[in-house]
Amino acid sequence: MSDLVVRATGLRKLYGHRTALDSLDLAVAPGQVLGLLGPNGAGKTTAVKLLLGLARPTAGTGSVLGLPLGDRRARQRIGYLPELFRYPAWLTARELLRLHCRLADLPRGTWSDQIDQALGIVGLLGRAGDRVGDLSKGMQQRLGLGVALLGEPDLVILDEPTSALDPVGRDDVRAIIRALRGRGAAVILNSHLLGEVERVCDEVVIVHRGRAIASGSVRQLVGAPSLRVAVAGLADPVSVLRRFGPVTLEQDGLLIHPMELERTPEVVAAVIAAGGRLFAVEPVQRSLEDLFLQLVRTGVTEATEQFRLPVMTGPVGPPTDEPPS
Ligand SMILES: Nc1ncnc2c1ncn2[C@@H]1O[C@H](COP(=O)(O)OP(=O)(O)OP(=O)(O)O)[C@@H](O)[C@H]1O
Ligand SMILES: [Mg+2]
Repeated sequence: MSDLVVRATGLRKLYGHRTALDSLDLAVAPGQVLGLLGPNGAGKTTAVKLLLGLARPTAGTGSVLGLPLGDRRARQRIGYLPELFRYPAWLTARELLRLHCRLADLPRGTWSDQIDQALGIVGLLGRAGDRVGDLSKGMQQRLGLGVALLGEPDLVILDEPTSALDPVGRDDVRAIIRALRGRGAAVILNSHLLGEVERVCDEVVIVHRGRAIASGSVRQLVGAPSLRVAVAGLADPVSVLRRFGPVTLEQDGLLIHPMELERTPEVVAAVIAAGGRLFAVEPVQRSLEDLFLQLVRTGVTEATEQFRLPVMTGPVGPPTDEPPS
């Protein structure tokens, strides 16, 4: 699959005796946004450093933009926002961007446009003449994002890009990522903000203690939605609801899972037609955060096995442990 932007197989990194990363496989296509999730120390930054050639893998192979890891020609086409960015405080925002245009060897005639475009995208046009040291932390992070966008890179790697940003800034970053995807760039996003990852990533890899413990699309990972129905006045509510999906009896009602939520009005109509009284009809969707906490707390260690939805148990209804579609 030579058209992948990132391909990595069995990446491993030891720092002394500490395993920072083990057996990591990655594949990122053009226009795809990959989220790397994991608790502190999981190995997310190590993974991107290996892809960038800032650290050498102890084992494993990979390529970025069709070139071996660390190849300078590939690096030229990568935009990178490090997690611990520290730019020279005495440079102005514009000077910093000029420096990075030079470092990236962009054609000199394009610098001015590239810089204005980057400043505009990250909302710093009005602060272009300010020194980095005079910018707030969040503004410095925006500037770092601007650096990562210079030269319209084919791969953009953002390591915790919103750690210092306010909610508006976070929303801006989501829009920037969507725009990158829209022009066919691949994006790797390291983040602890699961809601953010959920909203913007096409694929997610959850890393824990150096190993990938779950991977797939957000939809695959969180599974299909359910519908909780609280109903009274029916002798056999399960038989009324069963046609919409497997039904489980829960403390606060009946749960239809998996459920096609667009059929919710049919559920309401069926209950009413059978003479029942409805107290609640509530769509239920597990979040990435629920899954993340569950995986990390239970310490799942199977490295490459695709995560499967846990089997739902209950006194009624057929088994519901089909793998997520
Ligand atoms: N240069 C280094 N020398 C020694 N150990 C390192 C080095 N870099 C990372 N490590 C170790 O590797 C492990 C993974 O670190 P890494 O920075 O990849 O985690 P992370 O998932 O990015 O965490 P965070 O969410 O805190 O940024 C940690 O145990 C860390 O201490
Ligand atoms: Mg990190």
